[in-house]
Amino acid sequence: MQALKDALRQAEQHGVAIGHFNVSDIVLLKAVFAAAQELKVPVIVGASEGERASMGVRQIAALVKSIRDEFDFPIFLNADHTHSRASAEEAARAGFDSIVFDLSALPFEENVRKTKEAVVALKSIHPSMLVEGEIGDIGSGSEIHETMPDRSRGLTTPEEARQFVKETGVDILAPAVGNMHGMSKSMVQGETKKRLNIERIAAIKKAAAVPLTLHGGSGTDDDDFRRAIAAGINIVHINTELRVAWRRSLEASLAAKPDEVVPYKIFPPVVESIKEVVASRLTLFNNSALVAQEHSAV
Ligand code: G3H
Ligand code: ZN
Repeated sequence: MQALKDALRQAEQHGVAIGHFNVSDIVLLKAVFAAAQELKVPVIVGASEGERASMGVRQIAALVKSIRDEFDFPIFLNADHTHSRASAEEAARAGFDSIVFDLSALPFEENVRKTKEAVVALKSIHPSMLVEGEIGDIGSGSEIHETMPDRSRGLTTPEEARQFVKETGVDILAPAVGNMHGMSKSMVQGETKKRLNIERIAAIKKAAAVPLTLHGGSGTDDDDFRRAIAAGINIVHINTELRVAWRRSLEASLAAKPDEVVPYKIFPPVVESIKEVVASRLTLFNNSALVAQEHSAV
């Protein structure tokens, strides 16, 4: 079975990004896997500290592993936005493929020092686990916000990126390049989009020379996604868009069958709606590889 490290190397070679989708229940997990399986592309399932608390750390690890083993499919598990060493080590012991060790709220020097220590500790528990570090402010909360702050300033600099990667030894870097967590109401309506600083992504990629993750993907302009991937983004995180689909389709499914009490009769349309969102994002992120797949199938 392919390791995440190999899938990332392939993504870099093909100029595509691996989609990362957060889950907090089995409905979301089924939808993410169904979309990736249909498109035959690798996928990362993310679980933040809150999402892990909801599903259970070892339980989500067991579920993802069972899918990987049964279907021999490149589905990986990431311990998203982990703020403490204790919960990072718990995820490492549970066999997560990667972790976002996120001390981005701390002063830069402290973030460097503590991330460096975490890299050593986590690799001693789980040597093949990839560690992602984060610098810059991309907000928090994959939720609907009243308004979104302007993040075009305070971007990660190429020099910070170079220094952070060199000193900490992280495998992957998450920079601030205009991205932010969550969606405004106007983004949910499709009236406004997040915009990215593509030149800055290219400069950071050159300086850091490691795979880059784009957090806060929900509501981003499609063309900015394409250009960001071409400039060096290798993983894209999407959460809020899935949560919006989860809630809306659950409300619709309940409304369509007011007397239904059987969960497995209520959930299928919910899985289907979330799957559509995941599939459209995976198609965008893997565009060149999917075109090549089509050609080789002809
Ligand atoms: O780590 C999760 C994400 O960065 C998702 O952000 O909710 O804006 O899609 P999003
Ligand atoms: Zn994130």
